[in-house]
Amino acid sequence: MEKLVVHGGNRLFGDIDISGAKNAAVAIIPAALMASEGTCHIDNIPSIEDVHCLERITKSLGCKIKTNVNSLDIDSSEITNLDACTEDVRRMRASYYFIGALLGRFKKARVELPGGCPIGVRPIDQHIKGFEALGATVKIEHGAVNIKADRLIGTNIFFDVVSVGATINVMLAATLAEGITTLENAAREPHVVDVANFLNFMGANVKGAGTDIIRITGVEKLYGCSYSVIPDQIEAGTFMIAAAATGGEITVKNVIPKHLESISAKLIEMGAEVIEQDDSVTVRSKGKLKGVNIKTNPYPGFPTDVQQPMSTLLCVAEGRSIVTESIWESRFKHVDELKKMGADVKVEGRTAIIEGREKLTGAVVKATDLRAGAAMVIAGLLAEGRTEIHSIEHIDRGYPNIEVKFQKLGAKIYRETIKE
Ligand code: EPU
Repeated sequence: MEKLVVHGGNRLFGDIDISGAKNAAVAIIPAALMASEGTCHIDNIPSIEDVHCLERITKSLGCKIKTNVNSLDIDSSEITNLDACTEDVRRMRASYYFIGALLGRFKKARVELPGGCPIGVRPIDQHIKGFEALGATVKIEHGAVNIKADRLIGTNIFFDVVSVGATINVMLAATLAEGITTLENAAREPHVVDVANFLNFMGANVKGAGTDIIRITGVEKLYGCSYSVIPDQIEAGTFMIAAAATGGEITVKNVIPKHLESISAKLIEMGAEVIEQDDSVTVRSKGKLKGVNIKTNPYPGFPTDVQQPMSTLLCVAEGRSIVTESIWESRFKHVDELKKMGADVKVEGRTAIIEGREKLTGAVVKATDLRAGAAMVIAGLLAEGRTEIHSIEHIDRGYPNIEVKFQKLGAKIYRETIKE
C-alpha cells in the first residue's frame, strides 16, 4: 500500500501536459471491441488504473492488445468470450460499456454489474431502458446483466435524466442496429462527442453528438481505425485550481480551452487571472481569492468531477461559498477530511456551506474516492506543514502520475510505501 506525502506552501509554476481524457478512454476501449475487421490504434490513452483494468477485461474476452507508452492497439476480430464477469468488471464503473458494445456486435452478453466511486446511488435503469427500446431482453441475475436480442431495431429514446453513461452505452448498441435511432435528452459532455467521433472513424454514422439529440443510422459492420483521445477536462481543471490555490502560475497544455470555460469562469469570478491560448490555458493568482457559489450541472455547466478540488480552494477563499451538488447525492465525503485540516464547512444534504479560513494545516487524511483524492492533494499543496494522504489507489484510478506532474511544477509531494 502506498500514500502521498505533501509538504505544503510552495507556489507552483510551470507548464504541464494534460493526458488523454479518462472518461473518453474508458468508453473508447470497450467500443473498439465492435470492430469485426482490422485493428484500432488509439493514441493519447492515459496511463491510469481504470485503463489497465479495461485492458485486462478486453483481453479476457479474446481481444489481442498491444500496449505502448500512451497508445493501444486492439484487435478484436476474434472475440471468444461474451461473458465479462471478473473482479475487474466489478471494480470499476465504465465496465458497463461492454454491455452496449457486445450487444451491438453479438446481440448478446453477460456483464457483471459495475462498481466505481462511492458517490451516491448509481442506477443503470436508463441504459436498460435504451437497450430494451432497441429490442433487447434484459435480466439481472446473480449480480450480472444478461442481455440478448434477436435483432436490434432503431427507435426514438427519450432519457428521463441526462446521463453520460446511458447516452454512450445506448449509442454503442444503436450503431450496429437496423435503421435510425434518435437519442433525446442526451448528455453533451466532450467525452460523448469523442466516443461518437471514434465510432464514426470505425465506419458508424452518428450525428448530433454534443447536442441533446443524437441521431444514429445503423451500419452492418465496424472496422479498425486510428484515433487520438481528447485531453482530460478534469485533470486540466485540477491543475488550474492548483495554480490558484498556491498563488502560482501554471499553463495547462494540450487542452481544448472551450471544454474548460465553466472552470475558467469561476476562477475569474474568484479573482484569478485566466488566459486562454489556442491549445493551452494559463492560470495565475497572487492575492487572496473571493468565495463564490457553485452548482454542478451536466455539460456545459460546472462539472461535478471538479466540485471536490474546487471546494478545497473555497476553504481558503475570503467569505462564504455555497456549493450545490446536483448530480451525485454523496459527493461531499472529502469534507470530513478537510475539516481535519482546519476547514470550516457545513454539509446539509446536497449543499456545502464553506466559510473561508486564513489557512489549512497539514494532517493525516484519506482519499475517499477519486476526485476527493484530488481535493486532498490540492489541500496538501496549499496547507501549512505536512499532509499524508492514504487510500491513494482511488487517485491512481484516474490521474496519471499525479505526484510526478506536481513535482515538475515545484511541489514537494512524494509517494511512499506504507510499512505494514
Ligand atoms: N442516472 C440514473 N439512471 C441511469 C444513469 C444515471 O438515474 O441509468 C443518474 C445518476 O444517478 C446521476 C446522473 O444520472 O445522478 C448522472 O449520471 P451519469 O450516468 O451521467 O454518470 P456516469 O455515466 O455513471 C460519468 C462519469 C463520472 C461523472 C458523471 C457525470 C464515467 C466512467 N464516469 O458517470 O465520472 O461524474 O458521468 O458527469 O464516465 C469521475 O470521473 O470521477 C466520475 C465519477
